[in-house]
Amino acid sequence: MMSSFHQSSAESTHNWNPDSWRSRPALHQPEYRDVGRLSEVLDLLETLPPLVFPGEVDRLAVELADASKGSRFILHGGECVERFADCNEVTIANRIRILLQMSIILTHAARKPVVRIGRMAGQFFKPRSRETELLDGHEVPTYKGDAVHGFEATQREPDPSRLLQGYFRASATLNYVRAMIAGGFADLHHPDYWNLRDMEHASRYAEYQGIVERVQDAIHFMESFGGLDRGTVGGVNFFTSHEALHLAYEQSLTRRDGEKWYNLGAHMLWIGDRTRGLDGAHLEYLRGLSNPVGVKLGPDTDPDDLRDVCRRLNPTRKTGKVVCITRLGYREAAQRITPLVGAVQRDGMPVVWCCDPMHGNTVTTSAGHKTRSFDHIVSELRDTFAAHREAGTVLAGVHFEMTADPVTECIGGSIGLAEADLSRNYQSWCDPRLNYAQSLEVAFLIADHLRSR
Ligand code: PEP
Ligand code: CO
Repeated sequence: MMSSFHQSSAESTHNWNPDSWRSRPALHQPEYRDVGRLSEVLDLLETLPPLVFPGEVDRLAVELADASKGSRFILHGGECVERFADCNEVTIANRIRILLQMSIILTHAARKPVVRIGRMAGQFFKPRSRETELLDGHEVPTYKGDAVHGFEATQREPDPSRLLQGYFRASATLNYVRAMIAGGFADLHHPDYWNLRDMEHASRYAEYQGIVERVQDAIHFMESFGGLDRGTVGGVNFFTSHEALHLAYEQSLTRRDGEKWYNLGAHMLWIGDRTRGLDGAHLEYLRGLSNPVGVKLGPDTDPDDLRDVCRRLNPTRKTGKVVCITRLGYREAAQRITPLVGAVQRDGMPVVWCCDPMHGNTVTTSAGHKTRSFDHIVSELRDTFAAHREAGTVLAGVHFEMTADPVTECIGGSIGLAEADLSRNYQSWCDPRLNYAQSLEVAFLIADHLRSR
C-alpha cells in the first residue's frame, strides 16, 4: 500500500501546474481592491518556509489507507473557523487536549490506533451561503474568516496583509502543538489528560469514569510487565488540515518535491460542498497535489459526479488519497449514502469514508441562533455506520466541529442544553460547535458503535 502511494504522481499532474486553476471559475474568492499589495503578499508567502514536510504528508496518506481497511480510525475535528485571537497558549492546549481525550476513548473501544487530524493551524477561510449578514442590526458583508478580513462591521473589506498574518499564526500554532507533543503533553500519564471536567452532570458519568480507570489500569499493567515504555505510550501523531478555499493563498504554499507537488501549508486539505464542482477551479487546483484530499458531500451530491470527482482527484487510484466526507443530514443520510457508496464501489475506486454529522444538521432558531441538535448528530452517525455495514464498506472516521470550552451552541446531550440556554454562552463566529462535555459524550457513543462492529 505504501509503495502504491509512493508511485510517481506524474499521471495525475498531467497538464497541471500550481496556477492552472486560474483558467477555471473560482467560487468564493475574496475580491481585493489593492491587487498590488495582494501580489506582494503572495510573492512573499512563496519565499517563506513550508509548515509541514512531504514525508509527514505521505505518512498521513498511509494511515488513511489503513483506516479505509479498518485497521485505524480517523478523528478529524476542530473549529469551524479559527480566529486570530485563538492563537494563544491556552486555546491551543485545550484544542489538543480534547482531540487527545476523544481519541483515547475511541482507541480503547476500537482496539486500534486513531489518526488525529485537527481542523487547525490554517482554518482561516469560510465559504458563505449569503453575501451579507446582520451584525448588531446592520447589514454588512458576510464574515469570511480572519485571514480575509476582521469580524467588526468596519473591518469587512478584504485585506491582503491578513494572508501573511494567517500564515504566521498557522506556523505559531503548529510550532506550539509540535512542542507540546514532543515535550510530553500527550503523555497518557499526564493527570490533566484524564480529567473529565464539566462531565459530572452527564448521565453516563460513572460509566465514563470507569472507562478512564480501565484504560489507566491497562497502561500500568503493560508497563509493569515491560511491554510498554513511557515513550511508546506518550508518542502520538497529529496532523493538520483546513478547507482549501482561498486558492491564491494555497498556490503560494504549493511546493515541488522531485516529481511531486505538495501543498505544505497543511497535511490534508479538503474541498467544500460548495466548491466541489467538476469544472471548477478548486478541483483543478487539488487534483495536482500529492496530499490526501477530503471532499465534502452534501445531500445534493450526484453519484455520477462523485465518481468523476474521484477519478479527477485520484486517476492512479491510490488508497488513502481521497477522503469522502458525507454530511447528508440526519433525515436523509440513510437513503442518500447507499447510491454514493455504490457509484464509487462500481468504479473500483478506493476511497476513505468519513462522516461529518454536523454540516447537514444546522438550523436557525426563532431567536436567530444557528444550532445543531445533539440527537440529530448522533442519528446521522448511527445511520451512516449502519449504511456502510450494509454496503460492506468501512466507515473509517468521523469529522466534528467542536471546542474545549463550555459554550452553548448545540442543543441536547446528557448535559441537557435547551434552546433557551443558547444565548448563555454562544461564542461561535460561524457554525455551532459541540462543547467539551458534548464532544466527550459523542466520543463515548461512537466508542459503543466501534465496540459492536
Ligand atoms: C465546513 O466544514 O466548515 C464547511 C463549510 O463544510 P461544508 O463544505 O461541508 O458545508
Ligand atoms: Co462549519
